Amino acid sequence: MKSRILIVDDEATIRASLQESLTNDGYDVEAVETGEEALARCHGTNYDLIVTDLRLPGVSGLEIMQALRNQGNNTPVIMMTAYGDVDTAVSSMRLGAYDFIPKPFKLGTIKKQVRSALRATIERTAVPTEGPEPEAPTITAARKPVPDMDGRYMQMIRSCPGLEKVGNILEKVGASRSGNDTSILIQGESGSGKEIIARAVHEVSQGRSDRFMEINCAAVPESLLESELFGHEKGAFTDAKNRKEGLFELAGGGTIFLDEIGEMGVLLQSRLLRVLENRRFRRVGGKDDFEIRARIVAATNQKLSESIEAGTFRNDLYYRLQVVEIEVPALRERPQDLEVLINSFLREFNAQMGLNCEPVGAGLLEVLQRYPWPGNVRELRNALKRIMILEDPEQLEENHFPGHILAGRNPRSGKGKMSPGQGAGLMPLSEVEKMQILYTLEITENNKSKAARILGISRQTLREKLRIYESSTSSEQELLTDEANA
Ligand SMILES: Nc1ncnc2c1ncn2[C@@H]1O[C@H](COP(=O)(O)OP(=O)(O)OP(=O)(O)O)[C@@H](O)[C@H]1O
Ligand SMILES: [Mg+2]
Repeated sequence: MKSRILIVDDEATIRASLQESLTNDGYDVEAVETGEEALARCHGTNYDLIVTDLRLPGVSGLEIMQALRNQGNNTPVIMMTAYGDVDTAVSSMRLGAYDFIPKPFKLGTIKKQVRSALRATIERTAVPTEGPEPEAPTITAARKPVPDMDGRYMQMIRSCPGLEKVGNILEKVGASRSGNDTSILIQGESGSGKEIIARAVHEVSQGRSDRFMEINCAAVPESLLESELFGHEKGAFTDAKNRKEGLFELAGGGTIFLDEIGEMGVLLQSRLLRVLENRRFRRVGGKDDFEIRARIVAATNQKLSESIEAGTFRNDLYYRLQVVEIEVPALRERPQDLEVLINSFLREFNAQMGLNCEPVGAGLLEVLQRYPWPGNVRELRNALKRIMILEDPEQLEENHFPGHILAGRNPRSGKGKMSPGQGAGLMPLSEVEKMQILYTLEITENNKSKAARILGISRQTLREKLRIYESSTSSEQELLTDEANA
């Protein structure tokens, strides 16, 4: 199989020339214009390499990389940079880019970097392959490592005492003989670690040498979701210019992770139910049946029992999916995990950014344990990352953390409902609302649909409010967006 490369550049000529010359070299190359498109593609496809312009309108190259890393996606990234951007490019390497190339570049130079990045991936994820390592990039089959029972994600879970139950369930799943027929439903608040658990399921599964394919049901338009899942035949609908394999085909005997399953439309839910019952599926517009060999892991941060009652989620699909059900406790329900998590994030950022921050001290830990962390582990990770980037500290101190986190000391705020306005003194209601909205966006990493859902308002209302804030204090919103993406 060919290595898959994603090119991201808003300049059409660069996109075209890179795509052509790398395709001629035998790679499978896709090219997109914006960071938003790149992230959408990365949701459904495992690329072996991303070559992106650092400066893009909207989501930048750096933000693409950071969003991927936050999702646990370690696809190597090469940054293309304009002449004056070398400093930023160097810091992008500190943040985990594989390499950078200043523009204008010779095609020969970038081809060399591409080869070297792909070779580094093979070395990192090496599985025994037959014969000598080929010069041509034929590594896709070796893309995923074949980890031991305790792979990286399983270790992350095992290291948290508050996730002991989850770890035990995963162990049983791994040992079970029923294999991929056992579907798993993971429920938990946003940022609590559902994706980490889904990846750990893959690690303990028999099919772990096959692919882990992930799709976010909320991010893909309803009209495209079916063909993303099952693929389509050429001409199945207006835009179907070529035949396309869907996730169910691409996953082979691996794992299909249906994220935010609660957002799937009812029609597709019935189709999915039928497919899961028969363990067979058909491409859109196709006649042949294919057998499902992959395991289905679904996740949601909604209470599906409520969605079932409201008639937006099918009862029978719920029972089909939750053969094994995993409830991920919120971070506030497991304050004992804070120390391991903080110290492991500090180690990670120390290594990534060349810093030297000491493990968290007992006094500060106690303060942080009193804060309810409504954005869960993601919020904790982002808060630490922001401190590491902005403060470059030798030791974490209270004054590095924003007031609302420290205000967790207020005994009245222990229910996980504390708003950032609390503890910040008296202020007009409109200001509290604004802070809450910006804060929710920060926690959801600027995901407007998710933020609107949490806030209980429509996306349109949210957009309108943001427009008003932007016109009054644009700088504040920019800062928060940067932080959320940091
Ligand atoms: N046990 C853990 N150890 C280390 N990092 C963790 C752990 N759990 C979660 N994280 C980190 O926290 C962040 C959020 O985790 P994850 O994406 O799995 O959450 P989620 O439940 O899928 O959230 P959402 O519902 O918003 O999709 C990620 O950066 C992840 O790496
Ligand atoms: Mg997730």
